Amino acid sequence: MSFTILGTGSSLPGVMVTNDDLAKIVDTSDEWITARTGIKERRVLGGRLLEELAEEAAQQALSRAGLSAGKLDYIFCTTVRGDYATPSLAGIVGGRIGAHCPAMDLNAACAGFLYALDLADAFFKSGRAKNILIVSAEAMSRLADWTDRATCVLFGDGAGAAVVSSRGSGQLLTMRLRSQPNREILWAGAPRGNCPFGGQSEERSPYLHMNGQEVYKFAVRTVMEDAEQLLEETGLTAEQVDWYVLHQANRRILDAARSRLGQPKEKFPMILGETGNMSSACIPVLLDTMARKGCLKGGQLLFMSAFGAGLVSGSCLMRL
Ligand code: ACO
Repeated sequence: MSFTILGTGSSLPGVMVTNDDLAKIVDTSDEWITARTGIKERRVLGGRLLEELAEEAAQQALSRAGLSAGKLDYIFCTTVRGDYATPSLAGIVGGRIGAHCPAMDLNAACAGFLYALDLADAFFKSGRAKNILIVSAEAMSRLADWTDRATCVLFGDGAGAAVVSSRGSGQLLTMRLRSQPNREILWAGAPRGNCPFGGQSEERSPYLHMNGQEVYKFAVRTVMEDAEQLLEETGLTAEQVDWYVLHQANRRILDAARSRLGQPKEKFPMILGETGNMSSACIPVLLDTMARKGCLKGGQLLFMSAFGAGLVSGSCLMRL
């Protein structure tokens, strides 16, 4: 069964926030943020809607795939939180691009794009779809607590999209999704409403809370275990992988994975310096950036891996 990325797209908002800008509002510095994370700047929505970015990324992906919205069988949007609790971001994007196919949102935190690929694979294998639009769009600036220097420096907003198809010469060789339930390492609360009957459960902070060192250990361990297992399963070697497309949380996580895999820096493309961590949007935005630079070629082998709140993770090996 084929599994081909026909086209990609991405959109970042126009408002740039540099490390020096952050140093004016919290007790931090460009030196600290750069040394600990590799992030220099990030983009924030600045009054724009997430659905606008999602639509821009989707339109680009469709146009590069040479497909009209009418040819889509499904739209999956991955997001931690869209502009609305309901309708779904996927439904809104479908309306904006003129599609009438089924559409739904999926929240697997930073691993959302990998989960959407897995779902698309299942829909292709069951014969229920031939062309699926995946849009990963995140407004992390709405979840960050801009008074907390430990978290606000890490995140940015953005949207990435891919049109995937069950035709073409690509292949999804293997996929591994995992969940290691833990609610305290990385979380943000949601409103609990004002129902006057039967009392209220205690509200939890709506901002992101993170145990950075635990996330770091989980991330490095997960990427390594997945890489080893997927390579062994397919009989491939780390050297045969052309690109390691990893979730863009932190340069130190990428460096640790790279040195343990013994692979050159050039195989680990990075955008986090300019975007920060855009949760599930990181991987499709990175893929689109690579495609625009002409880095992605048919036949190449990609290892993709992401990890996030849950704690969940997803990794795959894909032949382009
Ligand atoms: N500027 C200056 N100092 C800071 C900042 C900041 N922005 N943030 C924290 N500090 C201080 C702390 O207050 C602490 O000070 P203290 O020693 O006086 O108490 C000191 O720096 C060290 O704090 P740590 O939290 O121990 O810093 P650490 O070295 O662990 O670095 C970081 C923090 C970068 C978050 C690290 O834990 C990490 O890389 N974690 C991975 C998690 C990650 O990348 N998460 C991204 C989002 S989650 C995801 O995508 C799945």
